[in-house]
Amino acid sequence: MPSDRSNNVRPRPRVLVVGFAGHQGKEYLPIVRESADVVGGVDPAPAAASLADEWGFPHYDFLGEAFGKVDFDAAVVTVPHSEHFSVCAELLAHGRHVIKEKPFAVTEREARQLIHLAQRADRSVLTLLQRNFNPVFQFARENLARIGEPYWFSYDYHFNLAHPTTGWRASREQAVGGVLLDMGYHLIDVLGGMFPEPPRVHSAFVHHYQEMRDRRLEDLVSLMCSYPSTGLAGSLRISRHHYEKIEHLCVLGTEGALNVVPGVAILHSVGGLQLDRHTWEGPKTDAVRSMMAHHLGHLDDRYFRQDHLQRQLATVRTIDRIYRDRTRERNELTDRCA
Ligand SMILES: NC(=O)c1ccc[n+]([C@@H]2O[C@H](COP(=O)([O-])OP(=O)(O)OC[C@H]3O[C@@H](n4cnc5c(N)ncnc54)[C@H](O)[C@@H]3O)[C@@H](O)[C@H]2O)c1
Repeated sequence: MPSDRSNNVRPRPRVLVVGFAGHQGKEYLPIVRESADVVGGVDPAPAAASLADEWGFPHYDFLGEAFGKVDFDAAVVTVPHSEHFSVCAELLAHGRHVIKEKPFAVTEREARQLIHLAQRADRSVLTLLQRNFNPVFQFARENLARIGEPYWFSYDYHFNLAHPTTGWRASREQAVGGVLLDMGYHLIDVLGGMFPEPPRVHSAFVHHYQEMRDRRLEDLVSLMCSYPSTGLAGSLRISRHHYEKIEHLCVLGTEGALNVVPGVAILHSVGGLQLDRHTWEGPKTDAVRSMMAHHLGHLDDRYFRQDHLQRQLATVRTIDRIYRDRTRERNELTDRCA
């Protein structure tokens, strides 16, 4: 993006919003507007045209229509998982930066292709992961060393949805994975900021609803990660139909413990004496606002881009390996039963 040399003020990026009529797209619109000019929106949903009218930008049904009709520097992409790669590849082919929802990619192969396309175009592909901008998680990362050598973690993340999954998340083709890819992406990314990539992961995939079992979309996943070279081990449990909505990360170390729940991170000594705590009462939108402003302000930052891409590649690789191991185990079982 060229800088405005006359008064040394960086111009606001011009942004195309892709998938803006959906849940995340609508949540981001006012926040994107604070740091960028929204110059157009792409979404084939029936409600999209009137929403674009309301917000005062031109609407396009397909991404291809927008090129040539509107000038933009970057796109904010909030589409179903199956659409991520083709939308991002098209944007990069037209030399545009991408700020996108998770997952960065759905397979390691697609992640590597996306990185290649981004590097070739010298553009950014930045993933929106709000925990990286949440002060409580920042405190946890920065203070992890105070608990000594970590040897165990336990991470729970559950929704308490009382009904079966609907929409694209209930379609194997569009969702590509169940809770591991959808909710678990956040957790694997948080752990990626604290620990190395786990060399070994054992998984159990569980289903609450028969139709989700039939579509091979897990409602619950339980993971056991081990890091034989350091002695660290840890487990994760992620689900959509728990009895309570909860997120809780606990890390045990040789010198103490670190606990993180939304709004508060606490350090304890071995034996349970509270040593320090960090609370954050701000609304979730504050973390989203600083994440969006940060990404929009770092589109041309090649160092940030490079670190970000490597972290996302590791997150995608971990998840992809778990799914591929499951597929291999299922195929071996089918072969044995045949
Ligand atoms: N960070 C979070 O906490 C969080 C929460 C919810 C969703 N998400 C992510 O956001 C993304 C979207 O999820 P959602 O819940 O908003 O879905 P959604 O179904 O509410 O919205 C998706 C929108 O994309 C549109 N769309 C579909 N294909 C398109 C295409 N090719 N081009 C342009 N628009 C297209 C749809 O018409 C729809 O309006 C997913 O990647 C999901 O994982 C993240």
